[in-house]
Amino acid sequence: MNQLDCSERATILVVDDTPENLALMSGLLKDDYKVKIANNGEKALKIAASETPPNLILLDIMMPGLNGFEVCRQLKDDPETRDIPVIFLTAKSEIEDEKKGLELGAVDYITKPISPPLVMARVRNNLALKVMADSLRHHNTFLELEVSKRTAELVLAKEEAEKGKHRAEAALAEILRLKEQLEGERAYLQEEIKLENNHENIIGQSDALKHVLHKVGQIANSNTTVLIHGGTGTGKELVARAIHGLSLRKNRALVKVNCATLPANLIESELFGHEKGSFTGSLAKHLGRFEIADGATLFLDEIGELPLELQAKLLRVLQEGEFERVGSSHTIKVDVRIIAATNRNLEEDVRNGRFREDLWYRLNIFPIIIPPLRDRTEDIPLLVDFYVKKIAKRLGKTIEIIPEVVMTDLQNYNWPGNIRELENVLERAVINSSGPKLRLADGLAQSVKHISATASKTMEAVEREYIIQVLEQTNWKVSGKDSASEILGLDRSTLRARMSKLNIEKP
Ligand SMILES: Nc1ncnc2c1ncn2[C@@H]1O[C@H](COP(=O)(O)OP(=O)(O)OP(=O)(O)O)[C@@H](O)[C@H]1O
Ligand SMILES: [Mg+2]
Repeated sequence: MNQLDCSERATILVVDDTPENLALMSGLLKDDYKVKIANNGEKALKIAASETPPNLILLDIMMPGLNGFEVCRQLKDDPETRDIPVIFLTAKSEIEDEKKGLELGAVDYITKPISPPLVMARVRNNLALKVMADSLRHHNTFLELEVSKRTAELVLAKEEAEKGKHRAEAALAEILRLKEQLEGERAYLQEEIKLENNHENIIGQSDALKHVLHKVGQIANSNTTVLIHGGTGTGKELVARAIHGLSLRKNRALVKVNCATLPANLIESELFGHEKGSFTGSLAKHLGRFEIADGATLFLDEIGELPLELQAKLLRVLQEGEFERVGSSHTIKVDVRIIAATNRNLEEDVRNGRFREDLWYRLNIFPIIIPPLRDRTEDIPLLVDFYVKKIAKRLGKTIEIIPEVVMTDLQNYNWPGNIRELENVLERAVINSSGPKLRLADGLAQSVKHISATASKTMEAVEREYIIQVLEQTNWKVSGKDSASEILGLDRSTLRARMSKLNIEKP
């Protein structure tokens, strides 16, 4: 491309078939410009397309061979030569010709005979325009390059920003998840603290209890699922807490769910959480116990009461560590260690179709069986000693003597409510004692008599009669102060469950 530099002399190509005209024009231009000449159209095109093309062409129209119009058309058709300004210099003075010449792309049209100063002025002007056009084009190209470079930089920067944004969003989501979990755990712990918290003081020297403690030590440090079997009040929760307290997860909470105390329709949401609006009354999102217990231990108390339809969902969490919140299809993965407890005979429940067999196998990997208190009477003196001191201290009393006859009564009693019942009996005894000697309140003496009279009956029959007796004694008051559940040392819902199992109804 023939770029014109202002510092050097421009080259003008004069095209004319008349030698006189060529001579005349050369003479006119040579002082200010380098001049090239061509006496026909073909030569003109050749020079224009050469290595050193002219900066401007003065073109005659009427020539043998290619005429000026044709030459101009070809110059403008070729990208290599289209930017060379063409000025027609011709004897054809009709307006039509001038119009045609300008339409073909010429920058000017001068008719002969020429006025030399006019030709020089027009040549100069058109060369100046060409310089400006070249520099504009040059600048444009530079700008386009600059724009595409900047665009590429912007695209890169935008991509980086997007990546950064995604990373920040992911980090934020993780922070929110952890915050929710912490809030859930904190709310849960506050509730927990309100309950009288059982410390890990497991009292007893019997071989039966030592065996339980041996198994606790064996399994605590692993992530294995544990199933604790035992009658009501035997210390299942205490043992669950001991396992958690000795495990690697001990710095997190032992999160508890009692499957017997929650209404069936709420258990699913309590265990797995729910999304806002997933059922009537679910006004806000709720984090389930499985999510709260992620990385910690979940204690599923009274697992035998879990409705059949939830047993499959529980099995999936146990096997895959996966579940969905109620009202959500998003799968959540958790790492939860499960300790379950039951006072039911789950094998029998499996046989009756009340409990899924596959879940039973999955839970019963490492069973721990806590024997009833009546089978480890040698623990009774230690427990009595421990609880009397503890209760007396709390009530501001001093009990120094536990008469042998009292201890014998306590050891002979059947303890259907196990250690919780013992605690309650002792609480009433401490309240009942005015001096330093422990004196039992009436309830136990009656039931001791009663139990000994019914020694030949089955355990279930004895339990049934005993519960009925306490219910009658309390006028069938199941919960609250001085109620049957308080005397029996049972949770209100556990008592109700026992009543329905044993077919006990208020007459
Ligand atoms: N070996 C023990 N030493 C001291 N206290 C005990 C012992 N075993 C149980 N207890 C106490 O007896 C009470 C009942 O124990 P826990 O709640 O663990 O029993 P549970 O088997 O979970 O009862 P439930 O069937 O009613 O749920 C608690 O106050 C607990 O501290
Ligand atoms: Mg319990």
